[in-house]
This record gives sequence, C-alpha cells and structure tokens, in this order.
Amino acid sequence: MKKHSIAIIGSGYVGLVTGACFAKLGHAVTCHDIDKRKIRNLQKGIAPFFEPGLTSLIKETVKKGNLRFSSDLSEALYGVSVIFITVGTPSNKDGSVDLTYVKAAVKDIASHMRGGEILVSKSTVPIGTSLLIRRIVSKRFSGKFSVVSNPEFLQEAVAIKAFLEPDRIIMGYEDLVTPKVKKTIKDLYAKVKAPIIETDNRTAELIKYAANVFLTSQISFINSIARLCEEIGADVELVAKALKADKRIGQRAFINAGIGYGGLCFPKDIRALIRISERIGYKFKFLDVVEEVNKEQRAVFVEKMKRLVPKIRGKKIALLGLSFKPKTDDMREAPSIDIVKRLQKLGAKIHATDPVAITNAKQIFGKSITYHKNPYSAIKGAYVVGIITEWPQYKKLNLQKVKRLLRLPNIVDGRNIYEPDKMRRAGFNYLAMGRGYIRDIKVK
Ligand code: UGA
Repeated sequence: MKKHSIAIIGSGYVGLVTGACFAKLGHAVTCHDIDKRKIRNLQKGIAPFFEPGLTSLIKETVKKGNLRFSSDLSEALYGVSVIFITVGTPSNKDGSVDLTYVKAAVKDIASHMRGGEILVSKSTVPIGTSLLIRRIVSKRFSGKFSVVSNPEFLQEAVAIKAFLEPDRIIMGYEDLVTPKVKKTIKDLYAKVKAPIIETDNRTAELIKYAANVFLTSQISFINSIARLCEEIGADVELVAKALKADKRIGQRAFINAGIGYGGLCFPKDIRALIRISERIGYKFKFLDVVEEVNKEQRAVFVEKMKRLVPKIRGKKIALLGLSFKPKTDDMREAPSIDIVKRLQKLGAKIHATDPVAITNAKQIFGKSITYHKNPYSAIKGAYVVGIITEWPQYKKLNLQKVKRLLRLPNIVDGRNIYEPDKMRRAGFNYLAMGRGYIRDIKVK
C-alpha cells in the first residue's frame, strides 16, 4: 500500500474519525478546522466530543507521526493529493440541507489548489453536490482536478469499528474520472476488507440517504408493530427476534422498538430526502409516515407515564439517560428533548441522569431540570422512573434498591431493557413499549 498524504477539511465527527482511521491505516493525515480553539485542543490530545477509543487512537497516530492538526488551510493542503470534505451540513428551517459550509470550504480549497487534486465529498450531501463542487472549483481554478463522492456510514459509539470494518465502501465518480484517480482512492482503503461499490456521483450520494432512511423506516415499522402488540396482547421483542432470524432481515436489523430514533443523522436525512424528492416533483409519502410514527412514540411514552401517575403536576419524575443512544454524549435531536418538553408542559419536576451527556444536556435544558450523576439519587422520592437511553449500567441497577427509593414502584421502560414478568414479580408497575396488553396492567 502506498502512503498517501490526505487533508481532512472539517474536524467534526466524521472528519476526526476519518482522519484518525486513515492515519491508523498508515497514511499521512492533516485534519483542518477553522475553529482554532478546537485545533489547539486536538493538538493537546483533547477531542471535542466523546467517542469510545477515539482519544487513544488520536494520541497513538499523532505519536507515530501520521496525524496532525492545523487551522491553517495552506499548511493543511500543502503537498496533499487527496482532500476530504467533512464539514457540517446542517438543516435549513424547511428541512433541506444547508450547504453554506461545503460551499465556503470548497471556495477556500480552490484558492490553494495546484492541480491534480482529488476532492472527496464525505459529508452527507444532497444529490448533485459533487457537480456543485466541480462548478465552484472550476470558477476559481483552471487546472486539473477530480471530484469523488465517498459517503460515510459511521455509527456513533462504534465509529472506529464502522470505519475500519465497514459493510461496504461506496465510491461515486464523475464521468471522466481517470483510472489513476480510481486507483488512488481505492489505495486509501487498501487495508480495509470490504466490498467496494463503484458508481457515479449521484448514485453514491443517493445511497447514503437511502441507507439511512431505510433504517429509520425499519424503526418506525417495528414501533407500529409495537403499538399493535399492546392492543392484541403480544410481545414485540419476540416478534423482532423472529423477524431477525429470517436471514433476509438479519440479526442487525434496526427493529428494536422504543421511543424512536434521534441523533444528528436520521432525523436530518429523512427530512432532507423528503425535500430533495419534493424539489424534483416526487412526493415521498412513505417518509412522511416514518417521521410521524417516530414523533408519536414520544407521546406514547409520556402517555404511559401519565397512566401510572395521572396527576403528574408538581411530582418528581426520574429519567434515566438523556443522550440519543448509549455510549455517546450526543444530545442532537435526542428523543429525551421532546419527552422532557412534554412532561414539563404537564408540570412534572424532572430529575435526570446520564453517564456522559449531562454537560451537553445543560445547554438544552438549562436549569429547568435537575441533573444527577448517580441514578439512585435521581430516582430517590420519584413517582415514576422513565428509561430513555439503554445505557448498559441501567440494566444492572439494584432493583430492590430502586423500589425502596421510589415513592411509587412505577417504571416506564422506553427501551425495553427489562423483562416485564420479572419486573412485575418484583412488585413494579412496569410499562414497556409493545410488550403485552397495556390494559391488563394493574396500577397499585
Ligand atoms: C446512523 C446510521 O446507523 C449510520 O449507518 C450512519 O452512518 C449515521 O447515522 C450517519 O448518517 O452518519 P447514528 O446516528 O450514529 O448512525 O446512530 P444509530 O445507532 O443508527 O441510532 C440512531 C437512532 O435510532 C438512535 O436514537 C437509536 O436509539 C435509534 N434506534 C436504532 C432505534 O430506535 N431502534 C433500532 O433498532 C436502532
């Protein structure tokens, strides 16, 4: 494998993981960001977010001399042949993608280009963005360059593994791309064992959206089945187990019922694809339903809390977990945000705990909720406990202690982490998502 010099423009989530992993694979990587403070911290080995294994990977690759950080673009691009664009692509108010950062980054890159560079778009971007990149550069630079679309499929909390052991690598090329460019891009991933799917830019860009919205539709599908389960007295966990045993669906299918999906990607990407489709005159109705079901799940969860504590106003309620999923401090579009708002509207006094997301949660909820490091202190004196994030430590709580500390033995499990029979035998009023007749559950 040839050692390539790579610049990563945008040291956010995708950028840093991509940079550190390419450095691990033996390439010479410079991660750039316009945020000087972020770069200074990274130079000291401090990552701007929590991701298992990332800090140690950064330290290891910096020590080896394969990874460095810079807020100076000319320095970052000096002598580099492959430039990854990994800047943020936030949502506009109408759900469409805001390409401001991509456009600004590409303009800046263009002013430093010398010829022969490969610009690789890795952020999730609307179909046609590779073409837009070509147009922006061409206006400012007359030399040769290529644009490749290489969407990323990182999953937070397991991002390093997702990069180094992906299910597939997508490479989208422009019509006139040369075999040399293709070889260089493939060479970057030479040590990664995964099928490579080569296609055109547009197809590559669409694949990223298709993959994410497919997963969201699985989640909303199982959540709809969960609602049915509650009406007919069935158990969604066993339905999901049976579905996963079907090899056409598979063990890793996103069919774990609960309070729905959140995070930076799923909600944003589904909204973006709805808008992208609208613009070309196709009404992607299916996705409207996926979104609607997802929103409903939060309301369903709050209804369950109300069922156990009908007069919730002024009462202490404990929430376990705030991040959008375990092993991350990411609060972006976390289901907890909507749930907290709904409970606050009902007048509940919310006490919440999370192993790592409290700092980020404070920026959203401020002083309107009480934060606890220790789950037992959040639970003490509460009328009901709500499980919001399935952190492994919540599965191992001392349930007798939980029962003793609670004012009433009420639990609403938004992630189905416990077994209903066991919980009921232990004396809890236990409501989960889609597990048996809701109406048969006796509230003491
Ligand atoms: C997601 C995709 O899984 C990645 O493949 C993709 O690369 C990434 O978005 C992206 O576009 O960057 P991520 O947002 O890190 O990754 O999180 P997931 O593990 O996919 O979970 C998303 C949400 O779905 C979480 O709130 C999770 O609790 C929920 N979920 C997931 C369910 O409710 N049920 C499931 O069965 C699975």
